[in-house]
Amino acid sequence: MPSSTAPIGIFDSGVGGLSVAREIRRLLPHEDIVYYADSAFCPYGDKDPAIIRRRELTIVDFLVKQGAKIIVVACNTASSTGLEELRKSFTIPIVGMEPAVKPAVAASKSGRIGVLATCVTIAGDRFSSLVKRFAENTTVITQPCPGLVELIEAGKLDEPETEEVLKGFLQPVLGQNADTVVLGCTHYPFLRPLVQRLAGPEVAVIDSGFAVARQVSRLLYDLDLINGGSSQGIETFYTSGDQSLAERVIGRLWIRDNISVQRVPLTS
Ligand code: SIN
Repeated sequence: MPSSTAPIGIFDSGVGGLSVAREIRRLLPHEDIVYYADSAFCPYGDKDPAIIRRRELTIVDFLVKQGAKIIVVACNTASSTGLEELRKSFTIPIVGMEPAVKPAVAASKSGRIGVLATCVTIAGDRFSSLVKRFAENTTVITQPCPGLVELIEAGKLDEPETEEVLKGFLQPVLGQNADTVVLGCTHYPFLRPLVQRLAGPEVAVIDSGFAVARQVSRLLYDLDLINGGSSQGIETFYTSGDQSLAERVIGRLWIRDNISVQRVPLTS
């Protein structure tokens, strides 16, 4: 049984899961965080689910070996493909993502919502079941966004190139009068200011980062695993990709200078 001072293990196909990690950091300032960015295998969103599942098992095994007390699969694609198998394979609590369809349905006045996500997430059973459960009387306009994750991985958050690509994905959604847009991939919240500017102030832009942070907090309290210390938690970053790119991009997204990232290329 891990101790309450053990870290929270978080992983993603790359840097996108930092949008969830930052919500966890806000809510749980005393927790240590170990973050693994699988950037060498990014994006997951157009890969064979069997390959993604193998990566997930390998990464969670690594995070457990780093002493993690809970795992956060901070990736919608990985949650859609591998959450059940992870929960069968490991005994520690595992929290996953799902696109924020339920709050979007509650927020929508027009009864038309748009969901931006990867091809794998949109095609997955978890997503169809989510729509069936919460959006029966709502028109759900799904929009796969190939190429967007790669731009974010490269740190291109406000370049004209990113704006052009995003515009192309938002157009069909807004053209069908969606008044609420769900950011169904953990990379996309880093483009929220751009999405909001392109969509206009009347459109609500929603993601599930805060809801997942709240779920992690609730679980840690329930399991008596919350870190009761008073010092600021520390973050340890790992990547399977290029170390200096990871240090530059993670430094920018985590808003801290001199971030150090260790390269650990896990083989699956
Ligand atoms: C990807 O790696 O393609 C996207 C990750 C996500 O779905 O959150």
